[in-house]
Amino acid sequence: MAEKLVLAYSGGLDTSCAVKWLKDKYGYDIITVTGDVGNENDFTFVKNKALKVGAIKSYVVDCKEGFIKDYCFEALKADALYENTYPLATALNRPLIAKALVDIAKKEGATAIAHGCTGKGNDQVRFEVCTKALAPDLKVYAPAREWGMTREELIKYAAANDIPVPVKSGSDYSIDDSLWGRAIECGVLENPWNEPPADVYQWTSSPDKWPDQPEYVEIDFERGIPVAINGKAYDPVELVIELNQIAGRHGVGRIDHIENRLVGIKSREVYESPAGCLLIQAHIALEELCMSKDQLRFKHYVATQYADLIYNALWFSAHREDLAAYVDHTQRFITGTIRVKLYKGSAVVVGRKSPYSLYNYKLATYDEGDEFDQSSAPGFIQLWGLPVKIQSQLQNDRLGK
Ligand code: ARG
Repeated sequence: MAEKLVLAYSGGLDTSCAVKWLKDKYGYDIITVTGDVGNENDFTFVKNKALKVGAIKSYVVDCKEGFIKDYCFEALKADALYENTYPLATALNRPLIAKALVDIAKKEGATAIAHGCTGKGNDQVRFEVCTKALAPDLKVYAPAREWGMTREELIKYAAANDIPVPVKSGSDYSIDDSLWGRAIECGVLENPWNEPPADVYQWTSSPDKWPDQPEYVEIDFERGIPVAINGKAYDPVELVIELNQIAGRHGVGRIDHIENRLVGIKSREVYESPAGCLLIQAHIALEELCMSKDQLRFKHYVATQYADLIYNALWFSAHREDLAAYVDHTQRFITGTIRVKLYKGSAVVVGRKSPYSLYNYKLATYDEGDEFDQSSAPGFIQLWGLPVKIQSQLQNDRLGK
């Protein structure tokens, strides 16, 4: 009996050819797995296509809830933005899909997994490093890195093997989408001087469609997790879908980034992440209200580290787990409401409240009811400035005196 291989399957040309190619070259029985992370796909079509092109079995796994709760909201608690810009939608769904592949490989007694990524991107690294972490003994294949076929040759290969070639959509973009965001690369975007054409955007409306009235949205957080919009409770998946709509119609969540890939090159990336951008902004605003200065300073440093770990394929590393434990502990008082004004492509935090707010009106006000004891300021300044004063007295040629 042939050994089994589990292939991450999108239904596109590459992974469809991979079914046939892996079977012929290595003699495996191929089982496909497609993870539904909220991407806009006809999954029945994808499932049937896998069988049609020669898979012995084809799984579609609904990963939406796990994706939002266990990956996106973990990253949200950390305020993870790669290079201060990218909310990491693709980087977060790869470890989850790797885990789905490994789980099915174990259930099916498969000895290998495969993915359709090329050798130039981050995603190959993510699939393979995550698989090594979860199932070090599984073999991993990357046919698109191995077969050495050009696009034209691949289309010929498909035609010769009765594999349907998708009708050309008119654009040459490479797109990866999930509930946390869309990533668009390639085609005219490869020249960083080219303005992204209107057709790259699907979730965020263009300036001529922005509503003329501002829209206010209130987001409730409990222990760092968003739980309600405008006072109405939502489950995690529905909450993200709703915020993608709300922020998207005002053009919020568009990103155009020159990004440093893990494999050493710079690439031009366009993203749409209306809910992701809005939630991270609102979450940071609530933390500013409820955390001390030192907590904020340190957590900001952790956010950069955390984002790099996610981007760099290290989701299942011990270091990421350690940071996650720290981040989770920081969220115990991150409960409250953030009010955001959406208007003409911008999202501005205009209100914040929390039962754990550290903002003290009586200490901050310049009006009636001021409880700040100004008479303690001179003593404070005397001690705070003491080292500066001493140094100036004893090393008085320092400032050119
Ligand atoms: N550059 C992003 C990342 O590495 C997005 C990659 C998107 N992949 C794609 N096939 N369009 O996370």
